[in-house]
Amino acid sequence: MPQARFPHARTKDTFVSPIVNSRRWLEGLNLPADMPLLNLSQAAPADPPPEGLRRAIAEAALGDDSSHLYGAVLGRDSLRAALAAKMGRHYAADLKAGDVAITSGCNQAFAATIAALCGEGDQVILPTPWYFNHRMWLDMQGVETCPLPVGAAMLPCPDAAAKLITDRTRAIVLVTPNNPCGVEYPGGLVQRFYDLARAHGLALIVDETYRDFDSRDGPPHGLFQDPGWSDTLIHLYSFSKAYRLTGHRLGAVAAHRDHLQEMEKFLDTVTICPAQLGQVGALWGLENLDDWLAAERQELLRRRAAIESGFAPLAARGWQLLGCGAYFAYVAHPFDQHSDPLARRLVKEAGILMLPGSMFTPKGDPSGAQQFRIAFANVDTSGIRTLFDRLANWAP
Ligand SMILES: Cc1ncc(COP(=O)(O)O)c(C=O)c1O
Repeated sequence: MPQARFPHARTKDTFVSPIVNSRRWLEGLNLPADMPLLNLSQAAPADPPPEGLRRAIAEAALGDDSSHLYGAVLGRDSLRAALAAKMGRHYAADLKAGDVAITSGCNQAFAATIAALCGEGDQVILPTPWYFNHRMWLDMQGVETCPLPVGAAMLPCPDAAAKLITDRTRAIVLVTPNNPCGVEYPGGLVQRFYDLARAHGLALIVDETYRDFDSRDGPPHGLFQDPGWSDTLIHLYSFSKAYRLTGHRLGAVAAHRDHLQEMEKFLDTVTICPAQLGQVGALWGLENLDDWLAAERQELLRRRAAIESGFAPLAARGWQLLGCGAYFAYVAHPFDQHSDPLARRLVKEAGILMLPGSMFTPKGDPSGAQQFRIAFANVDTSGIRTLFDRLANWAP
């Protein structure tokens, strides 16, 4: 059916996902054998989950009939309770099963959150560079994104956010550790955003998809320690990265029980319930994989250190490391050209796929033209050396 007949479709209000877009750059690509593609475009674990988790899923598939049926809209009680307990330990706070809900991925948690907060024409403040799916969902909901460009050290400023607040603002969104910039937001900064949101009666949405790979020990912020946290905070999480469950679509949201009830309408209508087998896997992970996950975090911290310590030859050629942490490094290139055509040339000429900053910034934003995101989680330390060698020897 020709799309031209549907000019007012909500999907027309946003752009094609950068991941979908960049995959097209690989079509017909024929790289020399000694220069295999380094794919640094997507933040997704490439390996399957540990065997014990897969076995738990397999056993549930064979022996637990309920794993094939519709279940509770907000997720299995056992998983909600285990997640609340784990979050309680992580944030040194008291969380109950009823404070959290399971969703079909963290993207859906964001979508449900916005559906439960915003109407047509409302505004949401989003630091830039942003996580593109956040922007896409706001666009498709008719919610206006108010970009908040980050300042020094790729951190957003609460005073600048305060200036963007209007009577249509409903929420401020933070992602920490950040996608795409990698930076870990200091606890004091997150607290200032929380205080700002509370003072204005807004929601503070904190997406901590990468919290298991934070370099800091102990609670990364104290928001959950405030007994009134759920009046302001809506917290998002993903099981995708922690337990390599991307394909099972498992995320979570912690929020006021009234909000969860509103979100339940959305979740019931869209997916009815999160997939049962993924929930079995996530529960097994929460109960058995703390040590394994701690080792995964150490490996990612080693890769991060390799980026930071190996950057000197690139810095000598004018590249800048703007942010680094969790799955990502965010860099500025030295060339007098836009990052988008440069990204396409890098695929063909240097075998490097990384996303241009323009995919994380508003249209026409000059900073996006100068930047790239490097999603390094799937590349080991020798791959990082290869990346830097290729970049250092390349010029447009
Ligand atoms: C900040 C952020 N939020 C959410 C998601 C999506 O997570 P999920 O796979 O759980 O939907 C991602 C995935 O890249 C992400 O980077």
